[in-house]
Amino acid sequence: MLRRRETIIGMLFCFIAVMFVSGLQAEAKSKMQKQSFGKTEDGQQVDLYILTNKNGMEAAITNYGGTVVSLMVPDRNGKRDDVVLGYDTLDGYATGKAYIGATVGRYANRIAHATFTLDGITYKLAKNDGDNHLHGGFNKRVWTARDVSSNAGQALELTYLSKDGEEGFPGNLPVKVVYTLTDKNELKIDYSATTDKDTVLNLTNHAYFNLAGQGNGDILQQQIMIKADRFTPIDAVSIPTGELRSVKGTPFDFTTAMAIGARIDQDDQQLKMGNGYDHNWVLNNEKAGSLFLAAQAYDPHSGRVLEVLTTQPGIQLYTGNFLDGIHGKDGKVYNRRYAFCLETQHFPDSPNHPNFPTAELKPGQHFESTTVYKFSTK
Ligand code: BGC
Repeated sequence: MLRRRETIIGMLFCFIAVMFVSGLQAEAKSKMQKQSFGKTEDGQQVDLYILTNKNGMEAAITNYGGTVVSLMVPDRNGKRDDVVLGYDTLDGYATGKAYIGATVGRYANRIAHATFTLDGITYKLAKNDGDNHLHGGFNKRVWTARDVSSNAGQALELTYLSKDGEEGFPGNLPVKVVYTLTDKNELKIDYSATTDKDTVLNLTNHAYFNLAGQGNGDILQQQIMIKADRFTPIDAVSIPTGELRSVKGTPFDFTTAMAIGARIDQDDQQLKMGNGYDHNWVLNNEKAGSLFLAAQAYDPHSGRVLEVLTTQPGIQLYTGNFLDGIHGKDGKVYNRRYAFCLETQHFPDSPNHPNFPTAELKPGQHFESTTVYKFSTK
């Protein structure tokens, strides 16, 4: 009898100890740092949130544009470097035109002639890329931030209400982006949104990666693999023609890892149109909407590996062809092809291509998508 009671007391003690330790862990995980990142021209306070994990990986994210400002990642010798381009100050982001690190929406990538028709109504969008609409304006908005850290890792929730008619898009659209830094060296991005009118939506993150460290030269030796047998060719103003073209025998075949620079300057009409790679690949994800390893990048010099997983149907590889001497962080200058972007997305100009996966969102539907940037070394 006495022994049974001792056993029960012992079990209770263990239970309390376990609860106490996991409570401490949860608390440790939730200690995200917050510091001021300045004020916008119209006086709104903007902050910088520093997420860390147990391996010393660190992500700095601002609620201005839902932007990843820096990402400190170890190389194969454990030396940390910042692997994304960025600016030192809020002003850089406020005046910058390259969408560096930003959350991009309402419609990431291009919409031809800045117009589309939905339910018989023709909508006219802001023309901000010649005659086309490009990327929308979420990157210049101040988002509402909340620490939502849990045992999954330190996490930052950012919310924004895109009003009916913003840049010409229909529907009030409350949108949420949650960044989670896990102990598996993943920066996980969960997007969600709803609408009160039929609309179109395409959300992505516009991080410019250089796995050798931001500002440390071009990315032409870094290797890319993309799990896609087809891509969407573009016209002279980077609008998809509507064709889904096989990558076989073209410089767009990244089904096995290839250095970005190996074929980038070949005499190829599509490469010329994009000024290099600036195209959407059609991901070979057989289970549409499930998390899928879409791409992998590798820097042989530092040993850093980046895996990109996504639930989205497409990915844009953009090789920084228009970077033109931008003054970035720590006095670094970003020249042409000093970074690559792997933008998970719906296909560009989907609202004008019924044969592309639909980017429509209707009242009552709940848009959800996830992209994971996972780092390791080899
Ligand atoms: C586009 C490029 C554009 C860049 C910066 C990329 O997503 O594909 O054409 O220059 O964003 O706006």
